[in-house]
Amino acid sequence: MSFLDASEMTGGYGAADILHGCTLKVEKGQIAVIVGPNGAGKSTAMKAVFGMLRLRGGRVTLDGEDITALSPQERVKKGMGFVPQVNNVFPTMSVEENLEMGAFIRADDFRDTMDQVYELFPILREKRHQNAGELSGGQRQQVAVGRALMTKPKLLMLDEPTAGVSPIVMDELFDRIIEVARTGISILMVEQNARQALEIADQGYVLVQGANKYTDTGAALMADPEVRRTFLGG
Ligand SMILES: Nc1ncnc2c1ncn2[C@@H]1O[C@H](COP(=O)(O)OP(=O)(O)OP(=O)(O)O)[C@@H](O)[C@H]1O
Ligand SMILES: [Mg+2]
Repeated sequence: MSFLDASEMTGGYGAADILHGCTLKVEKGQIAVIVGPNGAGKSTAMKAVFGMLRLRGGRVTLDGEDITALSPQERVKKGMGFVPQVNNVFPTMSVEENLEMGAFIRADDFRDTMDQVYELFPILREKRHQNAGELSGGQRQQVAVGRALMTKPKLLMLDEPTAGVSPIVMDELFDRIIEVARTGISILMVEQNARQALEIADQGYVLVQGANKYTDTGAALMADPEVRRTFLGG
C-alpha cells in the first residue's frame, strides 16, 4: 500500500461534485506531481486529501491508517503538512513568527526544526525579523514551505509552490523540494509549470474535470505524445 493513498475521491463544495473518483497516491520519500488545466480540481483534490472537503465517496489512508474522517488539524498530527495555493503566510508577522505559528501543534522544543528550515532556506534566517508580507514572491513561498515543515510532516503537500516566481527561483525551489524528499518526506505537489515539475516527479497525475486523465511516472508522461500535445504545449 502507498504511503498516501487517496482513492476514488468524489465530492465538491455544494450540490455539484468537483471531484469524480479522483485517486492520488504517493510512496514514501517520493515526489508526486499533479498537473492539469485551470479549474480541473487540483486544489480541490489537495483540500480533499487534507480534510478540508467532505467527501461523498472515497477514502484517504496515510501510512496504512484510514484518516478519511479526521479534521485537518488531526491530519497534521498524523503527519500531513499543507501549503495552500493562496494566503499561505501571515503577512504582518515576521518570518520567524510565521515558522513559530507552523509549530503550533508541537509541545516539544522546535528550535532544531527551525534551524533545519534556516539551513534549507538560508535567506529566511537573514530575514527572520522582517514581516513576511515584505518579502519577494519566491521568499514568501520559502516561508510557506518552511512553516509547513515545522510540524515535521511525513507528507508535505504543496499547491503551486512556484506560482509567480522567476524560472531561476523555480529551479532553486524544486532543488529544495528534492532535498526534502531525500530526507524521506513524501511530496504531493500541484504545479502549473508542468514540464519542469514532471521532470522531478516520480509519479505524475494529469487531472481533468476532477478525474484522473493520465497517471504514470513523470518520465513516461513527459514522453507520451498525447500528453505532450494536449498538456505540455507540444
Ligand atoms: N470554495 C469554493 N466554492 C465553490 N466552488 C469552488 C470553490 N473553490 C473552487 N471551486 C470550483 O471548483 C472547480 C475546481 O477548482 P480548483 O480550484 O480545484 O481548480 P484548480 O485545478 O486548482 O485550478 P487552478 O489551476 O486555477 O488553481 C472550479 O470550477 C471552481 O470554480
Ligand atoms: Mg488550484
